[in-house]
Amino acid sequence: MSIIGIVAVAENYAIGKDGRLPWHYPADLKHFKETTSGHAVVMGMNTWRSLGKPLPNRLNIVLSRSAQIDRAENLIFLRSEKEAIDLAKFLRCDLFVIGGQKTYAEFAELIEAWIVTKVPQTVDDADVFMPEDFLNGFSSVETRSLSDALRVETFRR
Ligand SMILES: NC(=O)c1ccc[n+]([C@@H]2O[C@H](COP(=O)([O-])OP(=O)(O)OC[C@H]3O[C@@H](n4cnc5c(N)ncnc54)[C@H](OP(=O)(O)O)[C@@H]3O)[C@@H](O)[C@H]2O)c1
Repeated sequence: MSIIGIVAVAENYAIGKDGRLPWHYPADLKHFKETTSGHAVVMGMNTWRSLGKPLPNRLNIVLSRSAQIDRAENLIFLRSEKEAIDLAKFLRCDLFVIGGQKTYAEFAELIEAWIVTKVPQTVDDADVFMPEDFLNGFSSVETRSLSDALRVETFRR
C-alpha cells in the first residue's frame, strides 16, 4: 500500500480558484483518470463539493470533521486522515491523495510519492496553492509528456 499525492500545479504553485480548477486540460483529466482508476482516492470536503459526484471506478473517500453528505455508490465518508490510511491498509490498495490545498497539507508528511502535472501558466488570482517546498526531500524518477503543453513528473521520497 502506498500513499501517493497527485496534483496539477501552475508555475506560481496555484492549484485552484473559486473552488475549482483554474484551467481545463483534457489530457490531464485523462491522465488523472488512468492513474487513479481501480484505487482509492481521498479528498477534502471542498474538492468533493467541486466534483459533486463520486469519481467512477474508484473508492472515493471524502474527509470532513463535521459535514454530512448523501450516500452514493463508491463513496465513503471519514473524519480524519488516520481513518483513511487505516482503511487503505486494510484494503491493501494504494491511496491517492487528490486534494485540495488543506488535504494535501494534512497528508504531506505521509506522502511517499508525488505525481505532478506542470501547468504552463501563472494564475494571478488563485486562492489555493501548493507550498513552494512541497517536493523537498523528493527526487524526480520519471517525466513524460501528456500533450504539447503539459508534462507530468513523478517524485519519490
Ligand atoms: N490542481 C489540483 O490538482 C487540485 C486538486 C484538488 C483540488 N484542487 C482545488 O483545491 C481547492 C479546494 O482546496 P481546499 O484547500 O479549499 O479544500 P479541500 O482540501 O478540498 O477540503 C478541505 C476540507 O476537507 C476537510 N478535511 C481536510 N483534511 C481533513 C482531515 N485530515 N480530517 C478531516 N477533515 C479534513 C475539512 O472539511 P470540514 O471543514 O467540513 O471539516 C476541510 O475544511 C479547489 O479550488 C479545487 O479545485 C486542485
